[in-house]
Amino acid sequence: RMPILEQCYNLMDFEAVAKNVMKKTAWAYYSSGADDEITMRENHNAYHKIWFRPRVLQDVEHIDTSTTMLGTKVSMPFYVTATALGKLGNPEGEVILTRGAKKHNVIQMIPTLASCSFDEICDAAEDGQCQWLQLYVNKNRDITKRIVQHAEKRGCKGLFITVDAPQLGRREKDMRSKFSDVGSSVQSSSGDDVDRSQGAARAISSFIDPSLSWKDIPWFLSITKMPIILKGVQCVEDVIRAIESGVQGVVLSNHGGRQLDFARSGIEVLSEVMPVLRERGWQDRIEIYVDGGVRRATDILKALCLGAKGVGIGRPFLYAMSAYGLPGVDRAMQLLKDEMEMNMRLIGCSKISDLNPTLVDVRGLSMH
Ligand code: FNR
Repeated sequence: RMPILEQCYNLMDFEAVAKNVMKKTAWAYYSSGADDEITMRENHNAYHKIWFRPRVLQDVEHIDTSTTMLGTKVSMPFYVTATALGKLGNPEGEVILTRGAKKHNVIQMIPTLASCSFDEICDAAEDGQCQWLQLYVNKNRDITKRIVQHAEKRGCKGLFITVDAPQLGRREKDMRSKFSDVGSSVQSSSGDDVDRSQGAARAISSFIDPSLSWKDIPWFLSITKMPIILKGVQCVEDVIRAIESGVQGVVLSNHGGRQLDFARSGIEVLSEVMPVLRERGWQDRIEIYVDGGVRRATDILKALCLGAKGVGIGRPFLYAMSAYGLPGVDRAMQLLKDEMEMNMRLIGCSKISDLNPTLVDVRGLSMH
């Protein structure tokens, strides 16, 4: 029997329910990672290698979890990251995530491969609600330019270019499920003929340009005033290159373990990146985000202590939406908020700007 919503006490609980109630093909698409799924597993496990060094007697009566991301004030330091094919999990699709994000004043990143059309997702947002666009770069740059400029006109406040997917990863669980209704599940892909024998992911991604390179960044900077953020950066050399190329941010991400297996977790990469940036005095030249495996407020707090501006969360909101619709997404976000307040209190921080590297012990990470 399906547990009632009030019996979900943390983000992992939604996953267990979703697995039972979702269609097999949909579950395969959402839950799969690349190859042996080692990176997917490590994304969350890496957080278990970091421990807190709380400070006591800090007057934590009032806790403020709010912060800013790319200049937008948000109530909590996470955003709903872009995940394709929302209608696989819920017939209403991504607009449910839009409404949940609105209720909790957090940002939603709209995927290129959403099930709802881009305009439907924008229309579902209320006045002043911040959304970002996740971009898969089309081989046809006229199409890319049109998508970007339309997003800017509709008020998107950030352009997240996915750079870790020149080719879609091999997600075997997804391939085995031989996805058959892909065509009807995606609105905004290129409309190319799809090969359905390769699973949902590969079927919809043939338009993505594998020749994309650093040389293209000036062009992106020239076609939009939105801040540009590279999503899927995985080492400090590329963070430095991103800063030098003039973009405003990076997401340290391995695409939720769906691309290169044995890519390191975002939190591991963050611990490589920040000391180098601090050494150069460059830590304020770029906003650094992390995603992958974030399931607890303690995960969020660890990333922020190490220097992230915010974190992206993907699957947990998909699972909450698939299992319970908007009330599920609402509860998932509320649980995170409650966890945030309690854990900030317990580590002795009353506001986000109090978080700093001395509050964590990272000797267990493999870098150290
Ligand atoms: C994704 N992700 C993703 N990223 C992206 O840039 N474009 C996309 O279309 C998608 N689609 C997508 C679908 C599904 C089902 C998942 C689970 C993920 C990756 C996503 O933005 C993010 O990097 C990860 O989901 C973060 O990991 P967690 O929170 O899911 O563990």
